[in-house]
Amino acid sequence: MTVADPAPFRAFVVEPGEAEEPLSPLQEEILALKEERNAVLLAHNYQVPEIQRIADYLGDSLGLAYEAARTEADTILFCGVHFMAETAKIVNPGRTVLLPDLEAGCSLSDSCPPEKLAAYKEAHPEVYVVAYINCSAGVKALSDVICTSGNAARIVQQVPEDREILFVPDQNLGQWVSRQTGREMRLWPGSCYVHVLFTVESIARVKAQYEGAPVVAHPECTEAVRTAADHVCSTEKMVAFAREYPGEDIIVATETSMLHRLQRDVPEKRFIAAPAERVACGDYRTGTSDRGACNYCRYMKRNTLEKVRDALRSGQPEISMAEELRRQAEIPLQRMLAWSR
Ligand code: 13P
Ligand code: SF4
Repeated sequence: MTVADPAPFRAFVVEPGEAEEPLSPLQEEILALKEERNAVLLAHNYQVPEIQRIADYLGDSLGLAYEAARTEADTILFCGVHFMAETAKIVNPGRTVLLPDLEAGCSLSDSCPPEKLAAYKEAHPEVYVVAYINCSAGVKALSDVICTSGNAARIVQQVPEDREILFVPDQNLGQWVSRQTGREMRLWPGSCYVHVLFTVESIARVKAQYEGAPVVAHPECTEAVRTAADHVCSTEKMVAFAREYPGEDIIVATETSMLHRLQRDVPEKRFIAAPAERVACGDYRTGTSDRGACNYCRYMKRNTLEKVRDALRSGQPEISMAEELRRQAEIPLQRMLAWSR
C-alpha cells in the first residue's frame, strides 16, 4: 500500500446526531445496585458505549485520578484498566475499589516491570523518574512524580533543572513532551500496542477519503503519525478541540470508543476513526469491525455490562495492595495532583 494510491476502505464513522439508545434492563439494574452500594462508576473514554452511558464520570486518566481522589462514595467501580483502578486505590485506601475484570491490563504498563526499573535506578541513581500514569503501583512507588497525557509537559517543566530525567514507560509520549518542553530525557523503550498501529500510510488513506478534515492524534502515537496530525492531545482535550473546530468532520487517531465520547459531547460533528495498519479489533483478516475500520484496545474491552453488574453484586474483584507499597506510590501521585492544579 502506498501513500499515492490509497486503497478504498470503509471508515468507522459516528454521524452527527446519532441517538443514544434508551437504557436497557441490565443498565437499569446496574444503576439500582450502584445506589444500594453507595458506589460511584468511574469510566475511561475507551470503555464500550453502553458502559460510558451509565458512568457517573467519564474522562481521561487525569480527570479520573482527580475524581477518584475527591469521591466520598463507599465503593469505586472502576471501568478502565488495572493501573487506573490501582491509582484509585492508592489515593483511597479506605474505600473499596472494584475492577470488573482483573485481566484488563495494559501493554504499556507491562513494558516496564518494577524489577527492571529498580535495576536501572541502582545503576543510575542520579535519575529523576517521571512516570506516565500507565504503569503499575510498583513502578509508581519507584518514581519521583507521575504525569498523564493531559499534564505531561506541565509536570516535566517543574522538575528541577539540574536533574536528569528518566521518562517511563512510553517512549512516544516522552519524545512528544521532550519536543514541547525542550527538555532532554532518557526514554524507557515502551509503547502502547494500540496507538503504534496507526501509520503515516493509514492516516493518508483516511485523509484521502475525508479531504480537508483535520487529524487529531493521541501523543502515544509514533512521531511520524504525530507529525502527520493537525493536533496532538489527550483524549479529554480532544473534546475541547472538537468543540472549537469550526468544520464538521474530524479524523480521530486514538482508540475507537473515543468517538462515542466525542459524539456525546459534540453531537453536531461527524467523527471518523483513523484506521490502524493492522486492525486491533473485529476481524484481523479483513481489518474491519461490522462498522468499518477501527482500533480497539483489547484490555479496555474486557469490561462488559455483565461483569459490571456481577462486580456490584458480589463486591469482587477488588483491588488490594500492601500498605507500604501504597504509601510509596502515593507520594509521586499526590505530587502530580498538586503540580497540575
Ligand atoms: P488519556 O485518556 O489519559 O489521554 O490516556 C489514554 C490511554 O491510553 C489510557 O490508557
Ligand atoms: Fe494501555 Fe494502550 Fe490500552 Fe491505553 S490503549 S490501556 S495505553 S494498551
